Amino acid sequence: MGGAHLSFRSVPFPRHSGRGRPGCEPRCRTRCAALPYEPAADAAMDRGRFQDIIAYKEETLANEKPRCRLERISLDLSDGPERRKLFAQLNARATKVVVATEGLLIYFSAEEVASLAADLAAENRFQTWIIDLASPGQLRLMQRTTGKQLSEAGAAFKFGPPEGVNFFAPHGWEPTDVQGMLKTAAQFNRAPAELLSLLPEPKGNPGNFPWTGVCLLNKREPRL
Ligand SMILES: C[S@@+](CC[C@H](N)C(=O)[O-])C[C@H]1O[C@@H](n2cnc3c(N)ncnc32)[C@H](O)[C@@H]1O
Repeated sequence: MGGAHLSFRSVPFPRHSGRGRPGCEPRCRTRCAALPYEPAADAAMDRGRFQDIIAYKEETLANEKPRCRLERISLDLSDGPERRKLFAQLNARATKVVVATEGLLIYFSAEEVASLAADLAAENRFQTWIIDLASPGQLRLMQRTTGKQLSEAGAAFKFGPPEGVNFFAPHGWEPTDVQGMLKTAAQFNRAPAELLSLLPEPKGNPGNFPWTGVCLLNKREPRL
């Protein structure tokens, strides 16, 4: 695990179908292309309807051939007992597990993220976790903008820890690499021009600065 770090590459995005959210970036073909934009569609993120999202993804990606074995599981990840059952099954099947949560933690409260982190850390083969993270400043910005509609649809933005990536250490995860999204996008000449004034990023914990990033977390070695 030592020495592991995040590496990025720029991939051209196919033009998305034009259906989807006004002004949304073609960031997630499945999500944008699959869901016609209406607050109700965002309500699809409320807990009871994950299978709808999965069904839509499968329908939309029916012609796509995954490059590895792909299994989609419809599960409310905030349901502790159910997710622990799943994690134990996955742990038993694998030798080494890398977990990636993209665009998920922001919908969880700090208590829910802490509990999810502890459950992931409890599985001996779950060794690495890649997350995206927002600073408190970014969270407030998002709550004031897109978050308003999402909140009305039952999918409020909640997680932007004041501790930054150090939030995860007490829950079993050591941050080993942190890369700001805007800085990385600028390195690939893919940063929105109007945001470049936000560079350079602050050193250390971004706090009230509007920042999002990708963080590589490794399982914390138990203290002997
Ligand atoms: C912003 S989307 C990100 C989707 C995709 N990872 C991406 O980055 O394009 C958030 C995703 O989190 C899922 N989600 C939100 N809350 C969840 C929960 N409690 N359990 C499982 N999935 C959840 C939603 O269904 C949605 O697919």
